This record gives sequence, structure tokens and C-alpha cells, in this order.
Amino acid sequence: MRLLLLLSTLVWVALASASVPTHANATVPRWMTLPKTPKLPQPYQEGRVKRPDGTSIWYGKWFAQQDSARGRKRAAAHPPLVFLHGGLGASTWLGHQIEHFKQTRNVVAIDSRGQGRSTFNDTITYDLMTDDVVAVLDHLNERNASFAGWSDGAIIILDMLMRHPSRLERGFAFAANYDIAGTQDVTKSPVFTEYLKRTENIYNRINPSAEYTGLQNSIFDMWAREPNGTKEDFTSIPSADARRVWVVDADHEEAVKITQLYDMSAWLPDAGTIILPAVSHFAFMQDPKFFNQALEDLLQYPL
Ligand SMILES: *[C@@H]1O[C@H](CO)[C@@H](O)[C@H](O)[C@H]1NC(C)=O
Ligand SMILES: *[C@@H]1O[C@H](CO)[C@@H](O)[C@H](O)[C@H]1NC(C)=O
Ligand SMILES: *[C@@H]1O[C@H](CO)[C@@H](O)[C@H](O)[C@H]1NC(C)=O
Ligand SMILES: *[C@@H]1O[C@H](CO)[C@@H](O)[C@H](O)[C@H]1NC(C)=O
Repeated sequence: MRLLLLLSTLVWVALASASVPTHANATVPRWMTLPKTPKLPQPYQEGRVKRPDGTSIWYGKWFAQQDSARGRKRAAAHPPLVFLHGGLGASTWLGHQIEHFKQTRNVVAIDSRGQGRSTFNDTITYDLMTDDVVAVLDHLNERNASFAGWSDGAIIILDMLMRHPSRLERGFAFAANYDIAGTQDVTKSPVFTEYLKRTENIYNRINPSAEYTGLQNSIFDMWAREPNGTKEDFTSIPSADARRVWVVDADHEEAVKITQLYDMSAWLPDAGTIILPAVSHFAFMQDPKFFNQALEDLLQYPL
């Protein structure tokens, strides 16, 4: 997801100081709000996976109904549900989803390299982040998993679908672009600017590398080059794989052009497509109930 890097300090300060409502009301629509940042539920287990380039990838685990034998048995009948956050973010941002799904599923959340609690190596690409996710699955002895990803996390799901389809049981890819030409100028969006401000604060609290400027440069550099998917990349996905994925976006998306969703939907006729109503790139916070229900529907969809 590319951020048009015209962030002069002036624009930054001007936008950042405009206050962004946390609640919708009769005059402020829901998609113009950035609700309070969710809390990451305390993981029942945390760990790190060391990668060949020295990067340490953090993950958290939650076991369904930890105290109930029946809940455990039911959750064990499914692969785990893995959450992947958006660029510069952390698993924290998907706290509402983790809180909800840990009641019925075994849940894993992964902080992508350099971000959240994971350490930084200035090389960040979608392929590297995808390979990190596969390494976490290997470490956890999971043959495959279902995935819910937002933005960069959704791009990782699409990358898995193309490069590691056997590890992806189901994928809910929310707010992905497949091509850098498919992004919008987020510097014009007060909601996105507020997100960037909050995410820097969270980073400074939890990241062991403390390299925010370096991270930002690496992420912006990636967003300027990738993703670079083509029609061919999508149409060559076998239908048996494509049908395990739903591509999802929001009707008031401020970061990705909605035509990216239309293209992917047309190129993956066997996949599901959802446009979430009256929300933006931050639908999982603006309307967690609808978002979670949509994800639940995918998890229960007969394959
Ligand atoms: C709606 O929220 C905005 C921003 O918080 C506030 O300025 C405005 O007064 C509110 N309007 C109503 C009708 O409550
Ligand atoms: C980053 O990765 C490169 C390439 O594998 C490696 O040479 C370098 O030592 C790594 N840097 C850090 C800080 O781990
Ligand atoms: C994922 O693993 C489960 C359990 O081992 C298996 O039944 C299922 O076929 C696998 N899915 C894929 C896409 O390989
Ligand atoms: C897309 O970008 C990756 C990483 O920079 C590169 O390896 C690949 O060749 C590019 N693909 C195309 C079609 O340009």
C-alpha cells in the first residue's frame, strides 16, 4: 500500500492537529471517524521466530475457551485463525477481532517484520513478510491456517495464495491493492493521518528496535515499488485455491481505489467479494460487528 510521499512537515502538522472524531453522529459519518485504538487481549502464549537475516518475528496465541474442554475440542477441529495487520501497524489494531474470535477459535496474531513487537532489518518486501508468516506456521507445527488480513496483511494473504497455497486454508483479504497505481493520496485523509500518528506512539511503546524513521523509510520504499501483481498472476490461480479466499473492501475506502477490488473480483471468479457498508480502510474498528460477522461467514462457508 503506497503512501504518496509528499508528507512535508507542514502538511503533516496541519493534518495531525485537526481532530478526528472517535464517534459517528448525525453530522459525522462513521467512515470519517477513527474510533479508539483497540486493546490487544493478553496473549495466553507469546513467542518469537528467528529468521535467517536476524529478524525476530513476534507472535501471540490465544486458545479458544481455554477453560472449557468442549470449546477446546471444537476449536481443535479447525486450523488456527491468523491475524495480519496493516503497514506500520501492530496486532493491537485488530484487537476487536482477536477478542471476538478467541472465544471459538485458536487464534494467532503476527507482528510483521520491523513493526509491532518484531525487530527491524531495513529490507522489507511482501515476499519476505509472507515467508516470515510461513516460518511462524512451521514453528507452531501448523500445516495450514485461516487468515484475516488488513491492507499489507491482506496483500500477504494474496501472496500466500500465489506462492504457498497449501498453507492457506481460507483467506479474508480486507483492503488490499494489487498494484501501486491502485492507491489514493492518504495525506489528504485526516483519518489516515490520525492512524499514522497513533501508530508511531504504539511503536515507540512496544518495539524493541526503536527505529521508527528507518522503518517508515523501508515501508514507504516498499509501497513505492510493490505490490506489482498483474492480471496474469490472478487468473493463473487454480479455482480450487481461489474459492478459499474472499476479497473485501469498504465503500468509503480512502487509501485504496475500489477498482482494485473490482479487478481482483473479476480475475478470481471463484473467490467471494464483499464491500462493507459506510466504513473506510479502518472498517474493523468503525464497525467491528459487521466485519467479524463477514469473517465468520467465510470461516463457516462450506468448501
Ligand atoms: C458530531 O461530532 C462532531 C465531532 O466530534 C462534533 O463537532 C459535533 O458537534 C457533533 N454533532 C452533533 C450533532 O452531536
Ligand atoms: C539484514 O539482512 C541482511 C541480509 O540478510 C544481513 O546481511 C544483515 O546483517 C541484516 N541486518 C540486521 C541488522 O540484522
Ligand atoms: C489444511 O489442513 C487440514 C487439516 O490437516 C486439511 O484437512 C486441509 O485439507 C488443509 N487445507 C489445505 C488447503 O491444504
Ligand atoms: C515485482 O517486485 C518484486 C520485488 O521487487 C520483483 O522481484 C518482481 O520481479 C516484480 N515483478 C514484476 C512483474 O515486475
